[in-house]
Amino acid sequence: MKKLNYVIGASLVLLLSGCTENRGKISINDTTKSIKISQAEVLALYARCAGCHGLDGKKRVFGKSGRIAGQSKSELIRKITGYQKGTFGGSLKGLMARQVEPLTPEQVNALAEYISKL
Ligand code: HEC
Repeated sequence: MKKLNYVIGASLVLLLSGCTENRGKISINDTTKSIKISQAEVLALYARCAGCHGLDGKKRVFGKSGRIAGQSKSELIRKITGYQKGTFGGSLKGLMARQVEPLTPEQVNALAEYISKL
């Protein structure tokens, strides 16, 4: 009987710990919503953006985008969520939407904070 309890307990722990990997997206487990995104995660997220916007955020992508460095955090959140919702952007907004579509609100917040300080 003791052994059975152990097996049930172990299965419960596995069930409750959940799965944080979701089709390649980095997502925050429901039970850990208050946990802040680490600097390492922000850097990993920004590495994707840097391919186009530059490590310093000063590149004008294809000569078309604005420079993202130096914009305020709230402005960046407004634009990134605008791309996610399809309510903001120029002729290349479809391309940007694909970049930010998988980001959670916590990730957008952390990225905007990081970019505003570049
Ligand atoms: C494949 C290249 C590419 C990647 C990768 C990319 N962007 Fe962009 N970004 C663009 C282009 C092109 C535009 C201009 C789109 C338009 O027409 O609105 C843009 C525009 C933006 C703007 C609006 C700038 C402004 O003030 O007009 C923000 C903010 C932004 N990107 C943030 C990000 C973030 C954050 C990431 C990473 C998660 C990212 N981008 C990844 C190409 C890229």
